[in-house]
Amino acid sequence: MKNVLCSLFFVMLIVSMHTGGVFAAEKPSVEKGRLLFNSQSLAGATSGKSCAECHPGGAGLENAWKNQNLAGQVNTCIAGPLKGLKLDENSIEMQSVIMYIRSLKQQH
Ligand code: HEC
Repeated sequence: MKNVLCSLFFVMLIVSMHTGGVFAAEKPSVEKGRLLFNSQSLAGATSGKSCAECHPGGAGLENAWKNQNLAGQVNTCIAGPLKGLKLDENSIEMQSVIMYIRSLKQQH
């Protein structure tokens, strides 16, 4: 019985590694950032607003990648208009939102 459970565990582990299940949650990504940017509950927001409310589709943030203090600026908008709680600069959420904002940089 122990062996069966053990193999079952490994099968599930391998399956989830392939589908990105278990580990995907621990990595920041542009896609995650895009979802958070459009979420009204980012960082415990209580204003019912998402980032996209004022920056629809990231509009107006095409040059924000140049900002030396992007995390600080994101937190200003979180604490201000979103009425949420500032995110840790190294959190998956903050890293993802920053990756998303950097992805808005226009290619010329
Ligand atoms: C109520 C409207 C509003 C909401 C909601 C909002 N912002 Fe802003 N944001 C502004 C304004 C106003 C500015 C300053 C003017 C500007 O630079 O466009 C700004 C500036 C910024 C900048 C700096 C732009 C630059 O070029 O350096 C970033 C980055 C940014 N916001 C990200 C966000 C993120 C991420 C969220 C969601 C957490 C968010 N904003 C939510 C209004 C808003």
